[in-house]
Amino acid sequence: MASVEYITYKGILFPPKDYSLETLNQMENEFQILDDDIINVASPKSGTNWMSEILGLISQKGDPTWTHSTLVWDRSPWIETNGGLQRALKNPPPRLLNSHVPFQLFPKSFLQTKAKVIYTLRNPKDVLVSFYHFSMIIQTLKDPGSLEEFLDKFLSGNVIYGSWFDHVKGWMELKGSPNFFYITYEELLQDLRGCVEKICHFLGKELSSQQIDSVVEYASFQKMKDNKMSNFSQVPDHFMDHKKGKLLRKGISGDWKNHLTEAQNEHFDRVYWENMQGMNTTFPWD
Ligand code: A3P
Repeated sequence: MASVEYITYKGILFPPKDYSLETLNQMENEFQILDDDIINVASPKSGTNWMSEILGLISQKGDPTWTHSTLVWDRSPWIETNGGLQRALKNPPPRLLNSHVPFQLFPKSFLQTKAKVIYTLRNPKDVLVSFYHFSMIIQTLKDPGSLEEFLDKFLSGNVIYGSWFDHVKGWMELKGSPNFFYITYEELLQDLRGCVEKICHFLGKELSSQQIDSVVEYASFQKMKDNKMSNFSQVPDHFMDHKKGKLLRKGISGDWKNHLTEAQNEHFDRVYWENMQGMNTTFPWD
């Protein structure tokens, strides 16, 4: 694995390829969020691509033609990447946008709009495990080292996009505002149909029962794994080593139990509670 040096923007690490200080600055300070934008926000490995598929399907009333013919990063570009920001500027409204950035780096223009944010969270222990595996297959990420080493980096926020805790605390400050909706990966797993209904309600989209069935069907793990527009199989080899693994790896909750030792789990819990004190939200994993 070649060595990778991250770039730092306002104290947050980003990969060197397809990211630049110019783009990050432009995204934060110049990019115009529009009233009818729908923005899918999540910390990396929390189910971002799953939510993209769901939102793409909802926008098409369950018809999979678009999600089966257009690459996910073109349908809902990551606005902090060089290519994604350019694509976002070209896509006609109403746009679907993706972002992993912590709230303090998000486009300043957002606060003057009615754009809707859907924030997806996931048990951070499963985020850690998913992130660890992903770091081994993405060539533009640092070699994660051992899980023990990566755990320390993850808990101290020494990973791309910064601390999971800061991400959650920053975005959850918007809780209660009418254009912010949050949901967990665990809820999606448990009751995808119920979640799709809630998301439609938040977006003000009325889908028939059959259309919702179709969203649920095409957003399933297996259907997404088979959708080459969404499964990252089209990511060039110099970005992703396809022999080593896949984006749609396991798609379950609780995989951390197969990876963390008892001591690592206790350490994680201690850091979690230190950091999450004062959060007045309870999550499925608490
Ligand atoms: P695992 O690595 O635990 O399998 P992101 O899109 O934020 O990078 O998150 C990737 C994680 O979401 C991966 O987790 C992936 O398998 C999971 N995922 C993607 N689509 C999914 C789906 N339809 N159902 C369940 N999990 C899904």
